[in-house]
Amino acid sequence: MVSAVQKTKWLGKSWQFLECVGSTQDVAKEWALSGAPHGAIVVADMQTHGRGRVGRSWFSPPGKNLYFTAALQLPHSHPPLGTLSLLVGVAVAEALRKFDAKVFVKWANDVVSESGRKLAGILIEGFESVPQKVWALVGVGINVNLAENEFPDDLKPTATSLRIICGRELDRFEVLAEVLCSLEFWWEKWAGNEIASLLQAYERLDWLRGKRVRTILPNGAMIEGIAQGITADGELRLILPDGTEQRLVTGDVSVREAVS
Ligand code: BTN
Repeated sequence: MVSAVQKTKWLGKSWQFLECVGSTQDVAKEWALSGAPHGAIVVADMQTHGRGRVGRSWFSPPGKNLYFTAALQLPHSHPPLGTLSLLVGVAVAEALRKFDAKVFVKWANDVVSESGRKLAGILIEGFESVPQKVWALVGVGINVNLAENEFPDDLKPTATSLRIICGRELDRFEVLAEVLCSLEFWWEKWAGNEIASLLQAYERLDWLRGKRVRTILPNGAMIEGIAQGITADGELRLILPDGTEQRLVTGDVSVREAVS
């Protein structure tokens, strides 16, 4: 673990590595409330209640994967919050590409293989510790060394791991070191309101672009359209069959036929 935080300037310089937690998100929140510095990270070998977006759980067995939360203080002025998850997706995907894994970002919060199987998920939770001190708890789960037969049945059709993609096992802490460096780099750009390069990086890694996708709108309506990249606010642009554009602020989109 020590080697994982040696390449960064500030991210992860305060860290905790725990054998077993409910969720690293909760430990990081407690720590932030009791004085953790900006950039503190909580890493766990396993989670008993790893959580994903929209009330889902995150499969978190021991000894195989990476589960961490970075406690980051938002600067007073920052780009639209919708771009924060893009930042983390780009940071994780670029870091994993250092291991020759051909991975992509899938709006808004996933990192996927070429065939669209998910290997990393991102959960961002915000809270205010004292007035004016707003935190983002950036939680990242990466399937590193899971073999195909180690996924639960419900995840088998849609999930993958770095090991499956790269054809070899990887050192989890080497992966963490790259992810932290990349996250630090992109956070500095984002916090400095320089998001043009982030949007360009996202475009290079955008798995959805040009694909026919489907989503359920907050009003319950199902729509289908062609993904056309994102806006500067991090919204997904869909071109509908009648040629009009629909922008999605949040939600899940599926490209079911692309998963093989
Ligand atoms: C998702 O894709 O739905 C997001 C998954 C996020 C999982 C990570 S693992 C580390 C951190 N702790 C959690 O409980 N969740 C996030």
